[in-house]
Amino acid sequence: MSPAPTLANTREELAHVLADARKQGRRVGFVPTMGALHDGHASLMREAARHADVVVVSIFVNPMQFGPSEDLDRYPRTLPEDLELCAANGVEFVFAPAVDEMYAGGFSHESMRDGVTVQPGRLATILDGESRPGHFDGVLTVVAKLFGLVQPDVAVFGQKDYQQLTLIRAMVRDLCLPVEIVGAETVREPGGLAMSSRNRYLDPADRKAATVLSRALRAAQERAADGVAAARWAAMSVLKSEPAIELDYLALTSVDLGEPPDNGEGRILVAARVGSTRLIDNMRIEFTTPDQRGT
Ligand code: PAF
Repeated sequence: MSPAPTLANTREELAHVLADARKQGRRVGFVPTMGALHDGHASLMREAARHADVVVVSIFVNPMQFGPSEDLDRYPRTLPEDLELCAANGVEFVFAPAVDEMYAGGFSHESMRDGVTVQPGRLATILDGESRPGHFDGVLTVVAKLFGLVQPDVAVFGQKDYQQLTLIRAMVRDLCLPVEIVGAETVREPGGLAMSSRNRYLDPADRKAATVLSRALRAAQERAADGVAAARWAAMSVLKSEPAIELDYLALTSVDLGEPPDNGEGRILVAARVGSTRLIDNMRIEFTTPDQRGT
């Protein structure tokens, strides 16, 4: 059996348990999470281990990234199972702070206005940022705090949250943070549904309906050789075939979430509600303008 990770609940405990690793000059890999861990997280842990000598996982349901009417209270909290998954994937340290350890005096959206937070800029106002105002301020602020506490050499984030990954790379670049960011491939369930902690909310019918997201993205990939409009049309036809979902957005973009290129690599991203659960997914897509194919 793999040894249980050392659990730190406070900043002092974290500093204490990491001190030896630092003294020994071990390269620290970090996987920030909100818990309710699944195989997608396990793959991030294994990716971190490929880039580092010691892996730290944080488990913290960050109130700042939830809007007032979002699922903060019902977000799954499964610490004992999470620790087992960390142990099985070679994680040495888990940092699981309480809210007032990360936000002195507790958290409220009002008190945040008086404090210092990370402003993510224009990229945080599109796609998920448009549907979830303030969400990425919360994500980047807590990730910056966690980077300050863990001081990782490398941090691993899933490509499943592609806009989050793009914004974290931008924060690291713009604030000159000394950490390497690795984006790890999305892990999918057998039907193609991207793994997510929120999949636990889905009943069997919702789960089946939710596979339409990845099917739509794949349909777009298959038509991308006919250009951006054809790819969009293919994805929309698949999405429209599933009445149980409510589409939030379907976006075809460049790799950095700008306008899609006529030729070359881009991204296709989708967000939709299945019942009361909001799901997101995205894939790489390779566009070709029809008249550039030489056919
Ligand atoms: O992706 C997540 O689980 C969260 O947004 C993160 C990066 C842990 C910040 O709370």
